[in-house]
Amino acid sequence: MFINFWYAIEESYQITNEPVKLTFLGQDFVLFRDTQGIVHCLSNICVHRGASLAHGKVKGDCIECPYHGWQFNGADGVCSKVPSLGPDGKIPQRAKVDSYPTEEKYGLVFAFLGDLPEAERPPIIDIPEWDQEGWRFTTMRFTWVANYQRALENSLDPAHTEFVHPAMGYQGGRNDYVVPDLEVTSSDWGVGTMTTFQSPDLPHEKMKGLKGEGQMEAGTTMCGISMAETKLHFSPKAWAHQYTFTTPIDEQNTKRFFLQGRNFRTDPEMDGPVDERNKIVADQDRVVIERLDPFHTPESSTEEVLVKSDLVITKFRELLANWESRGWKIDSEAVDAQRDQKAFSIPSPARLENKRWAISAVPTVEPDQTTIIAAE
Ligand code: FES
Ligand SMILES: [Fe+2]
Repeated sequence: MFINFWYAIEESYQITNEPVKLTFLGQDFVLFRDTQGIVHCLSNICVHRGASLAHGKVKGDCIECPYHGWQFNGADGVCSKVPSLGPDGKIPQRAKVDSYPTEEKYGLVFAFLGDLPEAERPPIIDIPEWDQEGWRFTTMRFTWVANYQRALENSLDPAHTEFVHPAMGYQGGRNDYVVPDLEVTSSDWGVGTMTTFQSPDLPHEKMKGLKGEGQMEAGTTMCGISMAETKLHFSPKAWAHQYTFTTPIDEQNTKRFFLQGRNFRTDPEMDGPVDERNKIVADQDRVVIERLDPFHTPESSTEEVLVKSDLVITKFRELLANWESRGWKIDSEAVDAQRDQKAFSIPSPARLENKRWAISAVPTVEPDQTTIIAAE
């Protein structure tokens, strides 16, 4: 799991002035709205003696700890009240918790979980169709008992569609099946591809006739570690663009927010059937991914046999290795080894300015010898 990316962590409507505890990247966070309606996301551990802030109360723009009533400001995490010291008491300098930058977009709350200065942060993915006339969006959410990297690599794998999604392929029933040579696009923050598929018509009564002569274009492009855009062009005119936000709860569980825009059958009555269809497709992926062995992507690709249709996955792993070399990969083994003895926090940008913190930043992996080998 990686620090220093924006992550979608909840749907906006779920966050009110009642505190909510959420777990991501193996750490707990408290979320709440302040008096201005601004969403705050803080490390959930009270630096006094370790209580869970999310079980306290929102007081104005602060979260009040349920144990001894210390109050921490949502915007900067700094403690503004220590009741036991009395009204004139001097608040210790280290009395602060990590507070993370947040943004609300596309009906989701995003938090930047890391300590990069603003100018160096990877972007939140752009969804140009979100406000465009002629497009209609629906939002779904899934929780998979799967490692986030396995889930992401599945999105970048054009060869699974034929076998995992019967409505999209022929399950190996055609002799002319082949994944064409992939043209990989890449940028600082992502890799992706678009491919042409032979694909049968959609089974739903109201969707019939959408696909142009069985020729369908589809592909996925990543934006950072957690955001992906999947374009499904059923015909030159009927398009669905899916934006998947994959946020690791921990190494074993993954939350996914799934936004799909469509430019056909945009009447609201189609939302139900479209979501139903997408739930089936997501479940087809989920059952395969949850059973992969090993559970995590192997440390070295010498322990797999990759072929040219795995090219985008290989390129994605190069990006991961690059982000790991910057010290952004959480050392989950070290965190787990100290689980009951030591609390950790994802470092927030305030740590760049001020080094005195009670809770240690999560350890990150030393750049190592991860082997990336070319497809055969
Ligand atoms: S543990 Fe939070 S105020 Fe004491
Ligand atoms: Fe799939």
